[in-house]
Amino acid sequence: MKRFLGFLLVTVACASAQSIRYSAERKIWLLTTNHSSYAMGVDANGSLRHLYWGGPLWREQDIAAPTPRRDVSSFDPKQMLENEEFAGWGGPRYYEPALKITRENGVRDLVLKYVTHRIQQNELEIDLKDIRDAIEVTLRYRVYPETGMLRRNAVIRNRTNQPITVESAQSATWHMPPGVGYRLSYLTGRWAAETQLHREPIHEGMKVLESRKGHTGHAINPWFAIDEGSASEESGRVWFGALAWSGNWRITVEQTPYQQVRVTGGLNPFDFAYPLKPGEMLETPEFFAGFSPNGFGAASRLMHRFEREHVFPQSRLRPVLYNSWEATTFNVTEQGQKDLADKAAKLGVELFVVDDGWFGKRNNDRAGLGDWFVNPQKFPQGLKGLIDHVKGLGMDFGLWVEPEMVNADSDLYRAHPDWVMNFPDRPRSELRNQLVLNLARNDVKEHLFGVLDKLASEYDIRYFKWDMNRAFSEPGWPEETPAAQRKLWVDYVRNLYDILDRLRAKHPKLEIESCSGGGGRVDLGILKRVDEVWPSDNTEAFDRLRIQEGFSQAYAAKVMSAWVTDVPNMNRRSTPLQYRFLVAMQGALGIGANLNKWTDQDSALATRMIDLYKRIRPTVQTGELYRLLSPRTEDVTANQYVSGDGKQSVLFAFRHSQQYNLAAQTIYLRGLDEKAVYRLESVDNKLADREPELSGAYLMRRGLNLNLRGDFDSTAVILLRVQ
Ligand code: DGJ
Repeated sequence: MKRFLGFLLVTVACASAQSIRYSAERKIWLLTTNHSSYAMGVDANGSLRHLYWGGPLWREQDIAAPTPRRDVSSFDPKQMLENEEFAGWGGPRYYEPALKITRENGVRDLVLKYVTHRIQQNELEIDLKDIRDAIEVTLRYRVYPETGMLRRNAVIRNRTNQPITVESAQSATWHMPPGVGYRLSYLTGRWAAETQLHREPIHEGMKVLESRKGHTGHAINPWFAIDEGSASEESGRVWFGALAWSGNWRITVEQTPYQQVRVTGGLNPFDFAYPLKPGEMLETPEFFAGFSPNGFGAASRLMHRFEREHVFPQSRLRPVLYNSWEATTFNVTEQGQKDLADKAAKLGVELFVVDDGWFGKRNNDRAGLGDWFVNPQKFPQGLKGLIDHVKGLGMDFGLWVEPEMVNADSDLYRAHPDWVMNFPDRPRSELRNQLVLNLARNDVKEHLFGVLDKLASEYDIRYFKWDMNRAFSEPGWPEETPAAQRKLWVDYVRNLYDILDRLRAKHPKLEIESCSGGGGRVDLGILKRVDEVWPSDNTEAFDRLRIQEGFSQAYAAKVMSAWVTDVPNMNRRSTPLQYRFLVAMQGALGIGANLNKWTDQDSALATRMIDLYKRIRPTVQTGELYRLLSPRTEDVTANQYVSGDGKQSVLFAFRHSQQYNLAAQTIYLRGLDEKAVYRLESVDNKLADREPELSGAYLMRRGLNLNLRGDFDSTAVILLRVQ
């Protein structure tokens, strides 16, 4: 790869005490952390220009003030070379802008220049303003010194005395070091096949990652990683980021004709218009990004640590959960649930969750959504009888809800047909027989908060599984003016966040899972407010290995809900129960099987596995993940977790299909202390090595051999540091 970096790069082991430094003389900011530096400066024309993003620098004198460039031609003006940090659409700028507006008189030109800035510990705010009008933007930066992550977003203020309409509002543009040959990694998918890792070269032109469906979406997750073309799990420079937004989002990755790769992300401009009256403002979602000099593995470890320390709402370990959905679907009864609860408790389950079907006339998916009162036929004494029973067994109780939706056949819809998003005199498209409430409306928001607050206040509910089972359509808001209707895309998400924030504040013990037909709402915005997410409705264990591999690129194992379910499952595939357990034990373990059908042998294995899981849970949920062998490319999949204190490590290994009687490949462990000695405990005696204790050097250099035979064999090894 060709490089044009003009800076002296000096890698330092630790960040300076001051993470944000400003040179008034050269108008340069240097943001430095343990793992990365980021620099920008103001040029002689007042433009804020990006200067550097990569490994840590320690000397701001190394960074030259940005000098205005010259036009290359009348088609490629100097602005195309200047890497503006947050460019308005105005003047001769032909790349993706960070902000585009229209004034009431039709003038759309917006040229932003530096005004002032403020530094407060790890936070920096830079104010920009249009060259003529009082349209102001505050760029907000926060650095996280230990992980090297940066947070960026923007606040757009209309301080003119005329209304304006924002047509594109992005959170940030990230610039790669100038050059070509970069490669993009991103997560694609669809319902039941989410977070599939995809890698492709970046060329001239623009790649658009986005959701237009109202929620985060199954098709693409708002995460990216860019490397120099040849990074691996453990080597190569990787720049990565994730957008914290659970509505229509967009990330564009463009390579200009002048060898500059730019990543711009924020609110999706598709069907977007946000009017701002004089004095009003719009804040864009937070966009987090980081840098790893040591490949994709280190990148995701930084991200996971950052999420655990700064994003997730609390640090409690995830309990082992049982969810009765796949066992009973809509045939929920008090006695049936009690019977399942008895069986789940005996296995060691800690949280019992009743899924869909407990409320209104919900006997199938054609009726009842919206009517959040307990079905009196199914639960003659309300939920109290079941909850007391579950509590008596030593478990917490959880309940499924889908607050944002309504069936046409429901009392709520009959009373408030105007509450769903709709265009007058146009069809209201149903998906899974349901319509979407317009949560952008404050009356709808208050109603939903009231419903959930009442449930959480009346009953001892410790956990809501918050589902959302369809994408938006006909997103009209007839009560608003045509100009204001498109605010729906943004206000809906803000009101969703508001309900979650208020519920958590009022019920501090309540935990929440985000589900959207599987992994349709997985992003850092929702993960600030929920305790776990459901990555996919596909619980088939072999498929799940790839879904989990993709998920782990961006999100920590702690929030990755993972169930053991019955076979044959999707693809008509049957895998052994141990295989299913070990796959699920790599995240927040849950069980979704019909326990009424389990044999004594199944239950005995499950009890042993749950017991084992509880021993390794802190390592899996809060340790460092090393993806050793990938299910995309290898016959054996192997993942290793190392606890924060280095005292415990767990290796999970899965064989897809043995051929020609060949032994499984050697697995080289990582993340251990080469000088330390570890005692090995195999869950099922599949260690080919006979020595009960081995050094870190041996485990990482000579590696382990495991007797994995036939199809869908699996094993796990626990390593305990003994010296
Ligand atoms: C979709 C979810 O992903 C499932 O786990 C289950 O909760 C159903 N909805 C219930 O309708």
